[in-house]
Amino acid sequence: MDNNSDEFRNDILEGLRKPHQKSTPSKYLYDTVGSQLFEYITEQPEYYPTRTELKILEKHSGELIKSITKEIVLIELGSGSSKKTRYLFDEILKKQEKLYYFPIDISINFLDSIVTNLESLNEKLVVKGIPEDYINGIKQCNSILFENNISFDTFSRLIVFFGSSIGNFEPEDARDFLKQIRLNMHDKDFLLIGFDLVKEIQLIEPAYNDKAGYTSKFNLNLLNRINKELNSNFDLEKFDHYAFYNTEENRIEMHVRSRTDQNIVIPGNKEIFRIIAGETIHTENSYKYDKLKIEKLAARSGFKVDKIFTDENNWFNLILLRPS
Ligand code: AVI
Repeated sequence: MDNNSDEFRNDILEGLRKPHQKSTPSKYLYDTVGSQLFEYITEQPEYYPTRTELKILEKHSGELIKSITKEIVLIELGSGSSKKTRYLFDEILKKQEKLYYFPIDISINFLDSIVTNLESLNEKLVVKGIPEDYINGIKQCNSILFENNISFDTFSRLIVFFGSSIGNFEPEDARDFLKQIRLNMHDKDFLLIGFDLVKEIQLIEPAYNDKAGYTSKFNLNLLNRINKELNSNFDLEKFDHYAFYNTEENRIEMHVRSRTDQNIVIPGNKEIFRIIAGETIHTENSYKYDKLKIEKLAARSGFKVDKIFTDENNWFNLILLRPS
């Protein structure tokens, strides 16, 4: 067994052993099927974050890029489809001859297709995909820039983290993550992050309960993944998708809820995990932020808010941070 599958097995077992609330790390929602289902979620009419962030970029990319005086090197955490980033490319290339763009993504296949696609799109783009986790990826970008004499005196790095994925971190993990990023930045670099904002429950809950059922499929796919990778016996017919807004914690909680009393076994492990009717396994949190929380998070991780970009309804913020 390789290290990754060992880690997966241990994490799932640990989560199922929790006495009060069974849970699984949300990163495991994104296997190949899960990532494809997530793409479909972003296209659903109820899922407002993606299109709202896109609108903010469409409207404010010019102003955003103008506020950075030096030439820009662009680093993207989780390159996605690069759809959003294209607005930035266009604006950056209005003010400089050439743009170095480093998409960082753990999935090599995804990166390869992006790199070929983008370079053929624009000859002024120099794209280097980094198949790493985010922090190691940033370190690797720094070494590449250093080896190519791209000096921090003339360039600012703009690190972007779109999609409100920061909301899937527990608040203290979000702070530690941003601190790590800060440690690998220079004083004149920038960090641009998307935050989904606190708003009426009537808008948030449907975004995680789309009528077409993609969020449900995305959530239940985790049980399929566990069955495939660990040979377990989750019966998907006996679980429902369950997502609700927790107003005290300002977060969407996503769970799978058991319809009946049932026993789950994972071969090679002696325990029997008893799940009773109505009991849930907590699969993801999606925290919603407000201005104060964003400012606090920035301050605690070594940043200050430089600019706030928002949409006409104030549903979503793109926050430009600079080291404090
Ligand atoms: C990736 N992330 C920002 C999504 C969110 O909205 O928290 C994940 C998601 N989970 C269910 N729907 C979307």
